[in-house]
Amino acid sequence: MSANKEGNSGWKSFLWNSEKKEFLGRTGGSWFKIFIFYVIFYGCLAGIFIGTIQAMLMTLSNYKPTYQDRVAPPGLSHTPRSEKSEISYSMQEEDSYRLYVKSMKELLEPYLDEKQADDMKFEDCGDVPSKYTERGDLEDSGSGARKACRFKRSLLQECSGLVDKTFGFKDGKPCLIVKLNRIVNFRPRPPKTNVSLPVGLGMVSEFVIPIFCNSKKEEDASKIRDIKYFGMAQGYPLQYYPYYGKLLHPDYLQPLVAIQLANITFNEELRIECKVYGENIDYSEKDRYQGRFDFKIMIKS
Ligand SMILES: *[C@@H]1O[C@H](CO)[C@@H](O)[C@H](O)[C@H]1NC(C)=O
Ligand SMILES: *[C@@H]1O[C@H](CO)[C@@H](O)[C@H](O)[C@H]1NC(C)=O
Repeated sequence: MSANKEGNSGWKSFLWNSEKKEFLGRTGGSWFKIFIFYVIFYGCLAGIFIGTIQAMLMTLSNYKPTYQDRVAPPGLSHTPRSEKSEISYSMQEEDSYRLYVKSMKELLEPYLDEKQADDMKFEDCGDVPSKYTERGDLEDSGSGARKACRFKRSLLQECSGLVDKTFGFKDGKPCLIVKLNRIVNFRPRPPKTNVSLPVGLGMVSEFVIPIFCNSKKEEDASKIRDIKYFGMAQGYPLQYYPYYGKLLHPDYLQPLVAIQLANITFNEELRIECKVYGENIDYSEKDRYQGRFDFKIMIKS
């Protein structure tokens, strides 16, 4: 019993020593100093933290991404796009190409004339390729949202979906629509000389980034035969660049190129590669969509 009592009072005196007026071995004044020390210590930490974040935010621009390595070399994207970039369907079965047609329709939805009617948001930039459309400085937010160039869906002709609602799929002449991915403030530069261009490309406007498709395997060239291009001058006209970003260029429309496999051999799997050509357009072994892409196609008759 007595041992227990002693132990109890020992514990109590550890917490609060009334003789020395100490709590947990320290006086009130000592505790107060510790408290003040930590208030200042954590206050400084918070200050440094907020300061660093503020300094970093100041270097970021609302309008131009500071780091855009991920998208910096322009990639191509094509519609319809499917798993393993394989397009395979049967002309006889509408169900087998229904999804391809659907994705084309969705892509072209913003390109309808009535969606580009507003003169406050859109302007005509000519029907032939011309030089870049400069719309002021990227940092000059005062001038507000920039206008976008109209892109007439009818330029895609047989691939516009306006006449043939199946984009040629029904007749075994399918269309693909290819976009150059948007990059803020990027000015694609056309090829300076025509020496590096494929022979089949022919004359190119100096204001266009040309695209050219071919069979991946040389021996298949005779099975792919006629590839037709629709859009403005078989490529991406410069007046649609630069793009000012989502905030300043909310209505921006990318120029489109439609590729039609107009006379391809049926019942055979063929591989086609498309490439864009420009001085500042590179290709990468690692990224199959940088500056080019390829796809397999098989049409069952
Ligand atoms: C390349 O350009 C030169 C003139 O600049 C022209 O004479 C020649 O025909 C062109 N070649 C091709 C394949 O377009
Ligand atoms: C398609 O290619 C075949 C074989 O080369 C040819 O005989 C035929 O005329 C071509 N059709 C069209 C519409 O060009």
